[in-house]
Amino acid sequence: MKAATLKKPGGLDNIVIADRDQPEAGPGELLVKVAANSLNYHDYVVALGGIPTVDGRILMSDGAGEVVSVGEGVSGWSAGDHALSVFFPGWADGPGENEKRLGVPGDHADGFAAEYVAAPARAFTKAPKDYSFAEAATLPCAALTAWRALFVSTQTKPGDIVLVQGSGGVSIFALQFAKAAGATVIATSSSGEKLERLTALGADHVINYKEEADWGKAALQWTAGRGVDTVVEIGGPGTLTQSIHACRTGGHIGLIGVLTGLSGEVPTALFFQKNLVMTGITVGSQADQRDMIAAIDANGIKPVIDTHFPLDQVADAFQHQAAQKHFGKIVIDIPGDASG
Ligand SMILES: NC(=O)c1ccc[n+]([C@@H]2O[C@H](COP(=O)([O-])OP(=O)(O)OC[C@H]3O[C@@H](n4cnc5c(N)ncnc54)[C@H](OP(=O)(O)O)[C@@H]3O)[C@@H](O)[C@H]2O)c1
Repeated sequence: MKAATLKKPGGLDNIVIADRDQPEAGPGELLVKVAANSLNYHDYVVALGGIPTVDGRILMSDGAGEVVSVGEGVSGWSAGDHALSVFFPGWADGPGENEKRLGVPGDHADGFAAEYVAAPARAFTKAPKDYSFAEAATLPCAALTAWRALFVSTQTKPGDIVLVQGSGGVSIFALQFAKAAGATVIATSSSGEKLERLTALGADHVINYKEEADWGKAALQWTAGRGVDTVVEIGGPGTLTQSIHACRTGGHIGLIGVLTGLSGEVPTALFFQKNLVMTGITVGSQADQRDMIAAIDANGIKPVIDTHFPLDQVADAFQHQAAQKHFGKIVIDIPGDASG
């Protein structure tokens, strides 16, 4: 079977489409014919060699496909079911202690950029109803992270004001989930055209963060000084100060991303003066994923897919992502060979 693998030390030139033996479902495992992956910033950092992995690692944390066979001792799954990967196969539910967050596919373990994957049944949930495999593959990392920032680390409710940053995978899901929950959404972007598309998706107010450096204060002003209830913080140190400005007293910041770096200054006095709460977020558990899928099924939310690339163009897909021209998710299609 074909798989997109990474040769050490990494870098997009070191992505190799390799021939690998087709796996079989062992006891407790599912064999899934993978039909699609989606790209996350995390996968890009792995591909660049920024997160050390073993030589020949199969890339990509997110995958969706059809169950081909069910290993001994597995219940609740049948051949033909639509399976969706989970980011943390060891995190069933409850708090995410460190030991539950090992074995991330495409990083600590082989990932889903392959025609077939055999993995323990706990590495999958069922996919949403009426979703294509490409649509399902957008969910495990980006959508679940947005879900957790809005409905697990805080409880977004009708009438809340949510601020989302940029138009990448996490932020567009956050916009869609927040609107479905009855919230008002402020969205930012570096591009006027993307701001129009965010408005078309339901954003109530948009701000160009390149043109308005004080976008957090602008958001506060738009709320007539009240402030937002929750910020879905994907920028990190370069955006956190403005996020703090945007919040209401007692507001919540879901700290998710590293797009502007890994550490920086925090206006601590403003943070406590506003009595803010900030939660660090690492994706979510399998139980969170099932809850999110129930909400998707109930609300008919569909992901925004920017572009599809075939498996042998994974490096091109990463270049497209790095250029930040995308709006929503980038998908890898894996047509596969029925003979394996
Ligand atoms: N902690 C976790 O569990 C977790 C899970 C998923 C993702 N993440 C992190 O969250 C971040 C976003 O991930 P993603 O997969 O959604 O990435 P993505 O799809 O590649 O999104 C990139 C988009 O973010 C926006 N952006 C970039 N710099 C920005 C800035 N300074 N201010 C506001 N927006 C900015 C841009 O939107 P415009 O083009 O519209 O300006 C860009 O297109 C990454 O750092 C990723 O590592 C963390």
